[in-house]
Amino acid sequence: MIRVAIAGAGRMGQSIASVLDNHGQLECAGIWGRGDDLDAIVADAHVLIDFSLPEANDEVIGTVLRHRKPLVCGVSGLSGTQMAKIEEAAASIPLVYDRNMSLGIAVLERAVREAAASLGADFEVRISEVHHVHKKDAPSGTALNLGEAVAAARGETGTGSVEFTSERRGEVPGDHEVVMASPAERLTFAHSVTTREVFADGAVRAAAWVVSQPPGFYRMRDLLF
Ligand SMILES: NC(=O)c1ccc[n+]([C@@H]2O[C@H](COP(=O)([O-])OP(=O)(O)OC[C@H]3O[C@@H](n4cnc5c(N)ncnc54)[C@H](OP(=O)(O)O)[C@@H]3O)[C@@H](O)[C@H]2O)c1
Repeated sequence: MIRVAIAGAGRMGQSIASVLDNHGQLECAGIWGRGDDLDAIVADAHVLIDFSLPEANDEVIGTVLRHRKPLVCGVSGLSGTQMAKIEEAAASIPLVYDRNMSLGIAVLERAVREAAASLGADFEVRISEVHHVHKKDAPSGTALNLGEAVAAARGETGTGSVEFTSERRGEVPGDHEVVMASPAERLTFAHSVTTREVFADGAVRAAAWVVSQPPGFYRMRDLLF
């Protein structure tokens, strides 16, 4: 049995706990809520999944480093300094960080990277995303990741010449569409999330995977064959 500790007792933390409850090979070693002792919870686990908030990041990183325990972190909105600390920690422990823990998005990212490299710069690339009205950032972190994957495949920096459109509507959990078009042809890649549980499921898969990896900084795409 792999014992999994969870940092953050919010929506995602609860969802991960219920995925673990129904898992055959993994079990929940404890959920860290405000006021609880993170050291004790991590000491008793093989791996920590962090879905707390950026304000808890220093404590989370310090604790997994002290205990030399692998980390899966899905917290978004981390500062540049916090991301640098995460990358530094990955020199000592195996660590999966991704702003989108969906395996489908990891597959989409790989597909658009390959397509962009094959098609070249003659194709214009547009990425559109739709999310619920509570989401504050736009374009979404996932749309930006997809844009960076396309740009890198074409030898451009950042998101290069990729165009973005964002829409905020109702309670949509997350839709992304990547269109690559020349005057003569058009390719469309699309991904839709129907429930937020997909992120909890991806995080749990990452936890099962990361416990047998050497120290390093990994993304969800590294879990794919
Ligand atoms: N990577 C992905 O696929 C993905 C998917 C969904 C969400 N996310 C990200 O995951 C994070 C959590 O999302 P969520 O929807 O679960 O948010 P949430 O419901 O607000 O939960 C966050 C939890 O972290 C707790 N927390 C914050 N600081 C803490 C501290 N210092 N000590 C102990 N607990 C602390 C909060 O406690 P209080 O309630 O007491 O403040 C809350 O219970 C966000 O950054 C979100 O953007 C990522």
